[in-house]
Amino acid sequence: MKIKNVVIIGAGAMGSGIAQIAVMAGYNVTLVDIKDEYIAKGMSSIEKGLNKLEEKGKLKGTSAAALIGNVNTTTDLAKAAKNADFCLEAVIENMDVKKQVFKTLGENVPKHCILASNTSSMSISEIAVASGREEQVCGVHFFNPAPLMRLVEIIKGEKTSDVTVAVARSWSYSLPCLKGKRYCPIVLKDRPGFIANRVNAPTMILMQWAIDKCAEKGIPFEQLDTDAFNPMSPMGPLVLTDYVGLDIAFHTMQYYVKTLHPDFAPGKVITEYVEKGQLGMKTEKGLFEWPKGKKPILERTKKANLFTVEELYAIQANESCRLLEEGVVKDWTTIDKTMDAGYNAPGPMAFLVDGNREKWPKLLNELADKTGREYLRPCELMKSSAYRELRVVK
Ligand code: 3HC
Repeated sequence: MKIKNVVIIGAGAMGSGIAQIAVMAGYNVTLVDIKDEYIAKGMSSIEKGLNKLEEKGKLKGTSAAALIGNVNTTTDLAKAAKNADFCLEAVIENMDVKKQVFKTLGENVPKHCILASNTSSMSISEIAVASGREEQVCGVHFFNPAPLMRLVEIIKGEKTSDVTVAVARSWSYSLPCLKGKRYCPIVLKDRPGFIANRVNAPTMILMQWAIDKCAEKGIPFEQLDTDAFNPMSPMGPLVLTDYVGLDIAFHTMQYYVKTLHPDFAPGKVITEYVEKGQLGMKTEKGLFEWPKGKKPILERTKKANLFTVEELYAIQANESCRLLEEGVVKDWTTIDKTMDAGYNAPGPMAFLVDGNREKWPKLLNELADKTGREYLRPCELMKSSAYRELRVVK
């Protein structure tokens, strides 16, 4: 199937980033949002990105102006859908809003059109029902910032056809990545958070506990960032949460409360910040200050001593074992590659496999005792260490 006309719904950071690389790949792009001001903001960010590339001489055989000319904009989703070959939804993480978008798409797109959601954690199968064409719906999950991050997860919903998965995957591989080679693994089961976000999810349980402890004891959050400092990772978990948005973390955790475990409940501090609109980089203030969107400069002189980097790896490895138990992925090699492409940081499983097998379950039990969070206890696969065999040997 030849894809020419691509419709991106949602002109926020993700939607505009994806629209930029889609137009760079040669597609006719239509960017849709509910308000002209949201579209204007998205277009300005696309223009900024393309101009930057033009200045560097990286737009071969074309210009920023010509590419911008290939991006149409509208607030009329039904009209935009009429001519679409491929639609990608990147609206807020609210199931009702997503269902409404897919209903409108289902009623208006041509028969052959593939429908994709960039949801970061929600059920593709549930979203798909609203479209009335479940076989043609899948997840196509980008990482922020989409033009720079290599990972795109392709998620198979309960009724997604193999053809839909293949078309969505080859479309994703056709989009340029400004930093390295794209990696687009297939997520075999539609489970909350898919692979990369799910592996990382329970570290948020520990973070909520630690952030609230800092607030109680008057310890600056900067010291927590020092606890988490890992030279192999471009951003610590707190800075990354601010970067992605505290509101996104908050809503995702609420979703995990419903779908995974009550221990995912957002803590006091993050709840208060979200209520008052202190959302991280986009509001220039979150857990840290982001003046004009610039990354916070942290001193890293003193630790809070509330957790260690090794504990973060243990939590990620335990969740990776749960993904293997659930059949979301068949081997841990794919998990590590996915983490590397999605966070520019090494995945947890290589550490686990090379380490002492009794050490990790013990460490996880100690963490659960320390925090009172039962979800952090080792799962069966982690306890048995049978995960060692679940690898791809080249
Ligand atoms: N178009 C063109 N150029 C762009 C661009 C764009 N859209 N965006 C950035 N650039 C350029 C920058 O201007 C810069 O150019 P320069 O070198 O000439 O100044 C260049 O690309 C590199 O940008 P940075 O200086 O910002 O690059 P860094 O080396 O600092 O890396 C980073 C930035 C890649 C974001 C790195 O900090 C990183 O890997 N952070 C971790 C990000 C991460 O983990 N993301 C995943 C979050 S979770 C998620 O998204 C899941 C979702 O479901 C919520």
